[in-house]
Amino acid sequence: MVQSQWPYWLPLRADLRNISPYGAPQIDDVVALNTNENPFSLPTEVVEAMTARLGTVIADLNRYPDRDAVNLRKKLAHYITQSTGVEVTDENIWAANGSNEILQTLFLACGGADHLALGFTPSYSVHPLIAQITKTPWFAGSRDEDFGIDIPKAKKLIRDKSPHLVFVTTPNNPSGTSTSIADLKELAEASGSVGALLIVDEAYAEFSEELSALTLLADFPHVVVVRTMSKAFAFAGARTGYLVAKPAVINAALVARLPYHLSSLTQAAAETALEFTPAMQAEIEVLVTERERVAQALVEVGFRVVPSAANFLLFAGFKGEPSAVWQAFLDRGILIRDIGLRGFLRVSIGTPSENDQFIAALREIAE
Ligand SMILES: Cc1ncc(COP(=O)(O)O)c(C=O)c1O
Repeated sequence: MVQSQWPYWLPLRADLRNISPYGAPQIDDVVALNTNENPFSLPTEVVEAMTARLGTVIADLNRYPDRDAVNLRKKLAHYITQSTGVEVTDENIWAANGSNEILQTLFLACGGADHLALGFTPSYSVHPLIAQITKTPWFAGSRDEDFGIDIPKAKKLIRDKSPHLVFVTTPNNPSGTSTSIADLKELAEASGSVGALLIVDEAYAEFSEELSALTLLADFPHVVVVRTMSKAFAFAGARTGYLVAKPAVINAALVARLPYHLSSLTQAAAETALEFTPAMQAEIEVLVTERERVAQALVEVGFRVVPSAANFLLFAGFKGEPSAVWQAFLDRGILIRDIGLRGFLRVSIGTPSENDQFIAALREIAE
């Protein structure tokens, strides 16, 4: 809805009148490779266990959920400790409805009109969007041509701007590129020196070989790692994200969160998913192998592909406008993402058969 369409009687904030709701197109009967979902549905054994568990929870829906989601946080702590070797407990974890809610809560707790947030763009566009909604000033630092962060420049920027929140997404969305742990450490030092939280959005960490920023937590109390079950756990529909940080950050999130924000159903479903971690994550390897196969196919038809450590690829080198290429894919039943980055399109990695369809369409389009 554009400005002129808001009814006169609606006291909508003036600074929100020109904002469109965030979201990618949701179109039926297409191969959807546009939102970086995990394309594999849940294994039957998990569906059965989850159905049984939810059956028991439903009878108690007259009660509010565990406000602090302690069991879920314990299970997430166990997962993080097992998968990264960084020992954490439930006191280091806070969970919410997707990592988007985690991000929003961090902004509510530590952002606001007199607290600057800084990120390195192009990156996840929801960071500046939540900044705007929470009236937090946002400074967009840049990335270089290959989407890396120039560390000396970034450190200078952090020192000059003295933000309260610094955002780094790694692997980065939309580029798929990752920031090395050595570089993250330098950014943590710079952020600490100005009293900023360094918020590392690791939504795609499980697809990457890089060391997690979690390894910095022991030395840098102001590092916050944001994770999600939407991607590697193939659990986007259940809306479960979490952060890993020092207990003080969790206490700050508790101040800003809504009471009973995470439903009993979500908590029970996520706990069950975590009990089946190997089964839930069984397809990560397939997705990584498929990513390389799709990248190869893109290169073979003459596109430039940005090296990715995530479950998607950013590619460029079109003869015409990217929007025409996007449409040509859609005409062949394949929905990819035009993220508004000049000259680039992004494709999520699907199942092998979906990727076959993408590659077949690609070859036709590139002819
Ligand atoms: C970098 C990044 N962070 C966070 C999210 C949000 O994920 P969710 O809210 O599903 O946990 C996404 C989703 O695509 C993302 O790309």
